[in-house]
Amino acid sequence: MERLQKILAQANIASRRKSEEIILEGRVKVNGVIVKELGFKVNRSDQIEVDGKPIELAEHLYFLLNKPTGFVSTTSDEKSRKTVLDLLTEEHRDIRLYPVGRLDFDTAGILLLTNDGDFTNRMTHPEHEIEKEYLARVEGIVIRKKIVQLRKGVTIDGDYLAVPKEVRLIELNKDQQSTLISITLTEGRNKQVRKMMEAIGHPVKKLTRIRYDFLTLEGVERGAYRPLKVHEVKKLYANSSSKK
Ligand code: URA
Repeated sequence: MERLQKILAQANIASRRKSEEIILEGRVKVNGVIVKELGFKVNRSDQIEVDGKPIELAEHLYFLLNKPTGFVSTTSDEKSRKTVLDLLTEEHRDIRLYPVGRLDFDTAGILLLTNDGDFTNRMTHPEHEIEKEYLARVEGIVIRKKIVQLRKGVTIDGDYLAVPKEVRLIELNKDQQSTLISITLTEGRNKQVRKMMEAIGHPVKKLTRIRYDFLTLEGVERGAYRPLKVHEVKKLYANSSSKK
């Protein structure tokens, strides 16, 4: 259930503020009855009319994209670089989808796309503690002490103590002098993984997000995407509310 003025704004009738005025003026009917109450809650399936005309609500859509490197995760770019929307079919490019949070230009992996603002807020708010797991190939051989340091938390952005949910050492590559580390975060500050690895003296060479809560890249090739199933969206909502 959502507030009537919010639904009107979503249907592009007017801004939320202006929609409130329209409601107070008695111009809105819900299932044939005039509603002048601002807090009135409606379902997206209710019949809503403004000045006698039914409103059209865009369906909420959710996709899981396997982002390749070399794409920005915004809907437009001032440097004219390719955006993740360039990976969508024409049909989906027209729906005004946008990314849920960000992945860097040089980061690959799971990126959710939607046209549902509430869902985006829910997923990106650190309070909801949605887990994001990254595989980071870093420069040099990472010794145990550094892993312990990373687990305890490292300072980034001058004064922010970034504490990961989990850190695992996956593989040491002596020939290439690199280390593969899995790191799980429940927040998403700008370039957080890169900054955390730099803080322990091992800059990231390659970064991939391999898990978003319970969602993985299984069955989705790099550059491809799939719709989320209804039960998957429900589970994301459920998992994000239980930790509030
Ligand atoms: N952390 C980063 O450093 N980059 C990303 O794209 C995501 C998390």
